[in-house]
Order: sequence, then C-alpha cells, then structure tokens
Amino acid sequence: MPARRSIDLQGASTYFSAMAKLEIITLPDPKLRQVSAPIERVDDELRKLADDMLETMYDAPGVGLAAVQVGILKRLIVLDTAKEEEPPSPLVMINPEIRHLGSEMRTYEEGCLSIPEVRVDIERPADIVVGYIDKDGKPQELKADGLLATAVQHEVDHLNGRLIIDFLSRLKRDMVVKRFKKQAKGDVEA
Ligand code: NI
Repeated sequence: MPARRSIDLQGASTYFSAMAKLEIITLPDPKLRQVSAPIERVDDELRKLADDMLETMYDAPGVGLAAVQVGILKRLIVLDTAKEEEPPSPLVMINPEIRHLGSEMRTYEEGCLSIPEVRVDIERPADIVVGYIDKDGKPQELKADGLLATAVQHEVDHLNGRLIIDFLSRLKRDMVVKRFKKQAKGDVEA
C-alpha cells in the first residue's frame, strides 16, 4: 500500500543504508495473480530479502509491501504504519495468517504500489488478530486496528493473488486492467 504522505527518510535511510532497492512489478504482470508459497526456513537470505523489501517500501513510499510485488512468490510481507511524528516501526511478517476478523467494519481508500494511480474505497474488518513468524523464526501474534489492520489484510490478499481492483465492479475492474495493458505496451494515453 502506498503512503498518503511523503515519509521522512532522514532516519530511515541511514538505518537502511546497507540494503538494496528492488523493482516493484505492476499490473498486468501475471505473477500478481499467483498464490505465494509458505516459507519453510527463516535464514539470512530471507532476512536480507525482508530488509530490501523494507527499503523498497520506504523509498516508494509505502506502508506495506508483499514479496510477490518484487516478483518473489513467498509468503512474506513488510509493513510500517507509524505516523509522521513517530519513529519508524518496521514489521516483518513471515507466513502471516489472519486468525480473527472483528465484526466492526471500516472503509479506507486504498492504493497499491503495483497499481499506480488507482484508489479504491474498501470496507474491511476494523480490527484483526494476525499470527506470523518473525525475523528470528519465532511465532508471534498481533492484534491490529486502524491503518495497520487494513494494511495487513491488503498485503495478505497479495499473497493469495487478490488485488484491490477485485473490490470493484467487473466493468470498472476490466477498464483498469485494459488501461494497464495498454500502458505496458507503451501505448500510453495522456
Ligand atoms: Ni498492494
């Protein structure tokens, strides 16, 4: 998910200086529709990928990124929904699994770094419980609400090949896909 404000990278860029920026794939890349595979081993290679994804996300700037968005079909997501005045609080979730969805719903206007310029009003449960494995290989459980609850659901959708345009009517969805297919061919409209 993209950030709706520009993120101050002063602190973050120093901290993440050893990392590498990855390329974000966009619609209509067919990988975005595939289901990502569970991760069986948490090792240095995976931690490096998570760090690189965080740098890519901060650079975009975004508040969430799934591994599939950098072309890697593994169940790994990174997030940071800290507010502007707060210090960065990066979250790495391996094999995230939403265990509980609250009954109260909340609508956010969501965007997606893989579908630039498109925003969709999406109603989702306002609070959730998510289980995951952390960077040290330890199981964790987190209760989330607000923007974090939305971002986790958005990124977990990516792991299942689901995109924000799936919340649109079929007609509107087809229009968006068509536009991105045209752009991919270099036939860009003004
Ligand atoms: Ni997205």
